[in-house]
Amino acid sequence: MSHSCSCHAQFGQEQLSEIEKLLEPYSGDPGSLIQALHKAQNVAGYLPREAQVLVAEKLNVPLTKVYGVVSFYSLFTTKPKGKHKIHVCTGTACYVRGASQLLNKLEDELQIKPGGTTGDGQFSVDVVRCLGACGLGPVVTVDEDVYGRVNNGKLDDILSKYSRE
Ligand code: FES
Repeated sequence: MSHSCSCHAQFGQEQLSEIEKLLEPYSGDPGSLIQALHKAQNVAGYLPREAQVLVAEKLNVPLTKVYGVVSFYSLFTTKPKGKHKIHVCTGTACYVRGASQLLNKLEDELQIKPGGTTGDGQFSVDVVRCLGACGLGPVVTVDEDVYGRVNNGKLDDILSKYSRE
């Protein structure tokens, strides 16, 4: 099998070998698909096609099933994410308090839509459903940090903080 795809420079034979090792305990066990995909995604932070093919082969699961699971669960991603991962909550409470305005601002500032990653790889933006902090809405998270009552001004501060890191 050839893995010469140059579109994912960070993903190569080394990552595939690492995934292969991590998949050993799940070999031939289709019931462990989600767990196996988690492990595989942790290696490079995303699941390019080559990684999904490997999981399908190892676990003996049809490739279409793997694709289906990866596209169904929002925690799986097939594209590399940014160094800093921004999540904007679009649950009802956050939405009525201006989450869409924040998304518009992010789109203006970073020139990406939800699901996208900036060209320099610094930021990715995704939407999430309720984070369980509705009283603090609108809520934005960056990596492990949670920000509440975010408005445009606060979003500027957040972006400049992580632009430097
Ligand atoms: S709706 Fe955003 S935290 Fe609940």
